[in-house]
Amino acid sequence: MIIAIDGPSGAGKSTVAKAVAKKLGFSCLDTGAMYRAVAWRALQDGVPFDDAALGQLARTHDIAFGHEPGDPAPKSVSIGGEDVTRAIRTAEIDRAVSPVSAAPSVREALVGQQRRIGRAGDYVVEGRDIGTVVFPEAEVKVFLTASDEERAHRRVRQNADRSIGSIDFDEVLADLRRRDEHDSSRATSPLKPADDAVRLDSTGRYIEDVIDEIVELARERAAR
Ligand code: DC
Repeated sequence: MIIAIDGPSGAGKSTVAKAVAKKLGFSCLDTGAMYRAVAWRALQDGVPFDDAALGQLARTHDIAFGHEPGDPAPKSVSIGGEDVTRAIRTAEIDRAVSPVSAAPSVREALVGQQRRIGRAGDYVVEGRDIGTVVFPEAEVKVFLTASDEERAHRRVRQNADRSIGSIDFDEVLADLRRRDEHDSSRATSPLKPADDAVRLDSTGRYIEDVIDEIVELARERAAR
């Protein structure tokens, strides 16, 4: 089974995806980490930010997730054999990843990898276009949102916990809005809910309730 969780940055997708996967015994795939890894490699190598060069980079560098036994969420991510788990969470990558993820050749390369990974088992897959493009046949589709302010607060807390990225609320809020605008207005695979997605707003809700609601949706779907 595939559970697709799409939505804007900071809506709680990662937390929810990991917890849902754990409860159901599924694996997790964070597709945003893949776009971030390509952005990191492009900056390291000074690759021009045009579609052809970025697409070539995405096609020729393997992205791999490292797992610990018993944990559905990967502990590490690497590109071309280099561990980039922390390096892809910086403010620099936050800024660079939007143009990279808007490149159609990059999307084509990464969507192919995402389909290969997801079809190998039961997966909770999080991203922006999972229910619309990557797995339009997903058994469960959720579009998770939260208010801009709540998303910015969460991202600041997350950055503080990881000791990485900005912890300035206004800066984080402005960056979230800029990325939302970019992700929603791009020509290829814009951020939007699939017609058959269940829309969940996590503003002011306990995250455990949201997790339980998605687990219930999956169980109902499995019982059909
Ligand atoms: O979820 P995230 O913030 O780590 O995603 C990083 C960027 O990648 C974000 O700007 C949107 C983009 N992205 C995308 O275009 N499609 C996906 N399936 C996942 C992420």
